Amino acid sequence: ALERTFSIIKPDATARNLTGAINAMIEAAGLRIVAQKRVKMTREQAETFYAVHKERPFFGELVDFMISGPVVVQVLEGEGAIAKYREVMGATNPENAAEGTIRKAHAQSVGENSVHGSDAPETAAVEIAQFFAGNEIVG
Ligand code: CMP
Repeated sequence: ALERTFSIIKPDATARNLTGAINAMIEAAGLRIVAQKRVKMTREQAETFYAVHKERPFFGELVDFMISGPVVVQVLEGEGAIAKYREVMGATNPENAAEGTIRKAHAQSVGENSVHGSDAPETAAVEIAQFFAGNEIVG
């Protein structure tokens, strides 16, 4: 089915000027960037976004990293977009990421791993709504 997923190009990637390189990999995979903006997340936004990881030992580090610089938030659309983008991103830990994936090409560590993508339709909807109004998404 035609799906939408939420993507973040993380601070380690924007710092290295990789927005265009990552977008090229997204588009080459057949995903369409139907919304996009560059923002500096507030601590509150990052804590809300990652609330599911609140009890994890890396939560503080994760939030600090996500607010350490600009990010590019995006909505990607395509057939099976959620699973497809997770394939394009590669494994969370770049050491386990397959050749040809964004994280294999660009990620620096499990924390500084260049991109985020939604893991399910329900989370995609919640994540998209946190950053985009309906009229900012143009399919
Ligand atoms: P993401 O898909 O954005 O969702 C949760 C993030 O937590 C994940 O990507 C990783 O970047 C991050 N993460 C997972 N494990 C660790 C870890 N051990 N240390 C720091 N960050 C982590």
